[in-house]
Amino acid sequence: MPDTESAIPLLELDRLSLSYFVRAGEMPAVTNVSLKLWPGESLGLVGESGCGKSTIAYAVMNYLGRAGRIVGGRILFEGRDMASLSAEELRRIRGARIAMVYQEPMSALNPSMSIGEQLAEVPIYHAGASMTEARSRARQLLADVNLPDPDRIMAAYPHQLSGGQQQRVVIAMALLANPALLLLDEPTTGLDVTVEAGVVELIASLRQRFGTSLLYISHNLGLIAQVCDRVAVMYSGQIVESGTIEEVFARPRHPYTRGLFGCIPLPTADKTARPLTPIRGQVTLPSERPRGCYFGPRCDSFIAGRCDATSASTTTSAIARSAPSSPARAAAPSRPMRRSASAPVRARPWRSSANPAAASRPLPRC
Ligand SMILES: Nc1ncnc2c1ncn2[C@@H]1O[C@H](COP(=O)(O)OP(=O)(O)OP(=O)(O)O)[C@@H](O)[C@H]1O
Ligand SMILES: [Mg+2]
Repeated sequence: MPDTESAIPLLELDRLSLSYFVRAGEMPAVTNVSLKLWPGESLGLVGESGCGKSTIAYAVMNYLGRAGRIVGGRILFEGRDMASLSAEELRRIRGARIAMVYQEPMSALNPSMSIGEQLAEVPIYHAGASMTEARSRARQLLADVNLPDPDRIMAAYPHQLSGGQQQRVVIAMALLANPALLLLDEPTTGLDVTVEAGVVELIASLRQRFGTSLLYISHNLGLIAQVCDRVAVMYSGQIVESGTIEEVFARPRHPYTRGLFGCIPLPTADKTARPLTPIRGQVTLPSERPRGCYFGPRCDSFIAGRCDATSASTTTSAIARSAPSSPARAAAPSRPMRRSASAPVRARPWRSSANPAAASRPLPRC
């Protein structure tokens, strides 16, 4: 949902490449990734384990650790290259303008401090609030994330809360500084399905209420569809396809995206009529990526001589249907297009019939 008033994306990754430097040498984790997130927008980042989703989020937070480094491209926040910011400017942005919710809530909570104490630190540290103001804001946020009896939660220690309650506390903590951008890295993976549904609903409603932009990382396309406006699909360190939820869910174009849809259960589908089909093989290690398209060895549409040609750019060609290059204009696909006969579009319960433009768009070569 680009903000047509604003010409500057809130977050822009511009041909970003990230590597870890390990004993065996450089391990490229993310290669040449470009994306834009507009103010108020919610973008999902989906892909198999190890494809580089968290690495992107850590890079935005500047938490790549000693082994990780930006080796190419830029991260721009509100138009400013984050590499050009001083340590003090970065510190002000982190936590206040950008906050992150991690997969494991306990890793973000201090086990030896009460919830009230740790929540109050945020407005004291970032907004210079008094202890009374800070505690009152913390209490309000606990109520906002639908935690019953906020006073009891304020006095509790993290181990006295359930996993779902801990994750709500962490979301409240992230929202306390009223960030413009919230990075959510698999925020519900450790939760059971009913608690997960509650947390996902909460994230979607808080987004509406506070206008926070979200980068929502998940393996789960169903969750992404509930929370996000657009989705970028990653494979082996690259974005292979991006578009609005409606477009990508109605007509996934990249064979990897189609493979992902083939292995998720759909709420309305009959298991025997539509058996789940896993994607064969495994993601190759970054050090063993094949020539040409990285998905080639697992792809049913693989064409020798084309998909493994170096001119396939040693990258999987990205399919960008609606990642706008400006708020008002959608980017054109960068390659000639062809529809693969072996990859029919399957009907989805969320498939939009109200998008004739999507139906008439030819498929890109990949
Ligand atoms: N600190 C590190 N040192 C070396 N390699 C790392 C480090 N962190 C991640 N990696 C490697 O970088 C690649 C991307 O990892 P990343 O954690 O970003 O994947 P992911 O998509 O978030 O996976 P998951 O869905 O399992 O969380 C993987 O090959 C991983 O092994
Ligand atoms: Mg991860």
